[in-house]
Amino acid sequence: MKLLKLVANLGYGSRKEVTAMVRDGRITDPDGEILYTDDDVPHERIRVDGEPLDPPTGVVLMLHKPAGYTCSMKDPSQIVYDLFPPRFRLRSPTMATVGRLDRDTTGLLLMTDDGGLLHRIVHPKSAIAKIYEATLARDLRGDEATIFASGKLMLESEREPLAPAALEVIGPRQARLTLTEGRYHQARRMFAAVGNHVEKLHRSRVGGLELGDLPEGQWRVLASEDLQKVFGG
Ligand code: URA
Repeated sequence: MKLLKLVANLGYGSRKEVTAMVRDGRITDPDGEILYTDDDVPHERIRVDGEPLDPPTGVVLMLHKPAGYTCSMKDPSQIVYDLFPPRFRLRSPTMATVGRLDRDTTGLLLMTDDGGLLHRIVHPKSAIAKIYEATLARDLRGDEATIFASGKLMLESEREPLAPAALEVIGPRQARLTLTEGRYHQARRMFAAVGNHVEKLHRSRVGGLELGDLPEGQWRVLASEDLQKVFGG
């Protein structure tokens, strides 16, 4: 792909703006040689103001989402895109969140500009397991794991019962929940259905991919082995 299109698609500016950047000599190769709009240079050999480009098209990122950020493009409050360079919102194709986490849920959030891949990850048929660590307002009763595993739990205003979900009790008010679906506020509504309330919710794993020690608010590009882990449960 020609440099102009490649750089503009990554949100660095309109074609006109990128042309001006080229004219000002701000786009170079790693040795500082000025590049031109029609050059066919691989992504990894392009620098803007001496800095490597943002990840190329077709990327998958993992973000350690902090509390207080919504998975929306437009929201008057803080949004997950605020944790990336502002130009990320201008990328084409768009960088989208793979499913959503509620504003107050923390943890592993995938993002990609590959629409086909996104749909494969969120498609109910893929049934990718998502693991949530929940801190509860009240002590567990003892019957929650059986109810969640039954495949019969019906949440308010839903037409279908939930698929079986695994609950591991970690402490009186601490539990690890494995979901294979992604219904609206699912974990919070499940605990509400058994008379409890989620105080904190943290996603620690998607498929076989762990959040690991990625600091809160930070993101990294997934390697192809990481992506295989997402599908490899
Ligand atoms: N379930 C919820 O209730 N909230 C989330 O953010 C994710 C799963």
